[in-house]
Amino acid sequence: MSKHAPPVEAANDRAAYGAENSRRVYVRSFGCQMNVYDSQRMADVAGMDGYRETDDIAEADLVILNTCHIRERASEKIYSELGKIRELKDARAAAGRETTLVVAGCVAQAEGREMLRRQPAVDLVVGPQNYHRLPGLLLAARSGGVVDTEFPLEDKFDHLPAASQEAARARGVSAFVTVQEGCDKFCSFCVVPYTRGAETSRPVAKVLAEIESLARAGASEITLLGQNVNGYHGEGRDGGPASLADLLTLASRIPGVLRLRYSTSHPLDMTEDLIRAHAELPALAPHLHLPVQSGSDRILAAMNRRHSVRDYLDVIARARRARPDMAFSSDFIVGFPGETDADFEATLALVREVGFASAYAFKYSSRPGTPAADAEEQVEPAVKAARLAVLQALLDSQRQAFNRATVGRRLGVVFDRRGRHQGQFIGRTAYMQSVHADVNPSRLGALTEVEILGVKPNSLAGRVVAHPS
Ligand code: SAH
Ligand code: SF4
Ligand code: F3S
Repeated sequence: MSKHAPPVEAANDRAAYGAENSRRVYVRSFGCQMNVYDSQRMADVAGMDGYRETDDIAEADLVILNTCHIRERASEKIYSELGKIRELKDARAAAGRETTLVVAGCVAQAEGREMLRRQPAVDLVVGPQNYHRLPGLLLAARSGGVVDTEFPLEDKFDHLPAASQEAARARGVSAFVTVQEGCDKFCSFCVVPYTRGAETSRPVAKVLAEIESLARAGASEITLLGQNVNGYHGEGRDGGPASLADLLTLASRIPGVLRLRYSTSHPLDMTEDLIRAHAELPALAPHLHLPVQSGSDRILAAMNRRHSVRDYLDVIARARRARPDMAFSSDFIVGFPGETDADFEATLALVREVGFASAYAFKYSSRPGTPAADAEEQVEPAVKAARLAVLQALLDSQRQAFNRATVGRRLGVVFDRRGRHQGQFIGRTAYMQSVHADVNPSRLGALTEVEILGVKPNSLAGRVVAHPS
C-alpha cells in the first residue's frame, strides 16, 4: 500500500446523486478519547474525498465504526451494531444506494479477517495505525472485503490531513490532540499493547502546530492524549528529546489556550518535571487521572503494573505538595484472577486514603491473548458483581463529597454549550465537573469565574462572578 493513496472518485457518485446530495460519512466512536480523536481525523480524510459528515446513519454512504476491544462486552456490542447496519445497508441497496461499511479501531486490529467472516456486510477492516491509507483502501474495497491491520513504519498522523478551520470550529471549544500512541507496559489484563502497538510520540513541532490551528478555530481547552501520555518523549524543536512537561510548557504559551489537560498517565511515569509543571503552569488543570487498578500489592504484581501501593500514594502526595488544590481520578478493576476478599479490602482502603474526585471501576474481563486470561483462579461472576457494587458506592460517595466541598468556592469554568433554559450555558471546571449558569453568550469558550451555589445529582449550579476583560 502506498503512503499517498489516491483519493476516492468522489466526482462520479456526486454527479449521480446531484450536487446538493454530496456523499455523507457517518463515524461512530466507541471506547476511549483516543478513538474520539481518531474518528475526527477519519472524518477529515473522508472530507478530502468529498464526503460531508452526518449524524444520521440512514443517509450515510460511508459508515465507519471506530471500535473498542478493552472488555468483552465492548467488543461483542460491535457485532450487534454491525447486524443492524447490515439491515440498513440492504434497505438502501434496495433503493439503489450503495453503502460502504468500515470497521476501524481496536476490534478491527484484534480480529482482522475474522470480522469479514462473522459479518460479510463489512467492506473494510482497518487497524488504528492505518487510517492515512483510507482513501486507497476504500477504492480497493469496491471489489471485495479488504483487511489492513499491518503496523506501518510511517506515522499515520504525518499523512492525515489536518482538520479544516470549519471542521475544527464545529467541534467546539474543547479539543483533543493525540501526542503519544501505543503502549509498552503490558499489564497482564490489557489488550492495548497488542491493538495499538509499540509506544511512539509525535514531534513537538507537529503537536504545537496542531494546537495553534485548533486555538485559531476557537478551541480554548486542549487535552493531550496518549495511552501512556506521561511517557511522552517526542522530538523537541532542537532535535533532542522533549518530555510531556516540556510540551505542556510550550503549549501553554499558545495564544488562546486557556486550559490544558493530559490523559491517561501511568504512575511509573509521573516524573518530577511533570509534577513541577502543575505548580508552574496556571493553564494546567489541577486534576490528574491516574489509574491504579488495585490497592493490593500482590494483585498489582500479578497485573504487572510494576509499582506498589506505596509508590502510588507517594505520587499522590508529591502532586498535592506541588498543587494543594489538586484532585484525582482513577480506574479500578475488581475480580482480577486470584483477588481475595483481603485484596479487595485493600483496594477500598486505598480509595479511602486518597479520596477521589471521580473514578471508573470495572469488572475484570478476560481478554484473549493476554497473560491473565490463562490464570486459573478466575473470580466468580457473582463475587465480581458484589465487589463492583461496593466499590462504586464508595467512589460515588467520594464524588458527591468532592462536589459538595466545591460549594461556595470560586472556580474557573469554560462554558461550551447551551443549557436547557434560556440564557443558560453548561461548562466544565478544571475538575471535570459540569456547571450550569446564566452566562452572556460572548463568554462561550472563555475562562469564566463562577461561584458554585449548589450540587445537583450530575452537575453543579453556579453564578458568574466576574467577567475579566
Ligand atoms: N492506559 C491507561 C488505560 C487503558 S484502558 C492506563 O494505563 O491506565 C482503560 C481502563 O480500562 C484501564 O485503566 C482499566 O481499568 C480498564 N481495563 C483494561 N483492561 C481491562 C480488562 N481486561 N478488564 C476490565 N477492565 C479493563
Ligand atoms: Fe493497558 Fe497497562 Fe498499557 Fe494502560 S499501561 S494501556 S492498562 S497495558
Ligand atoms: Fe478501547 Fe482501544 Fe481505546 S481497546 S480503550 S479503543 S485503545
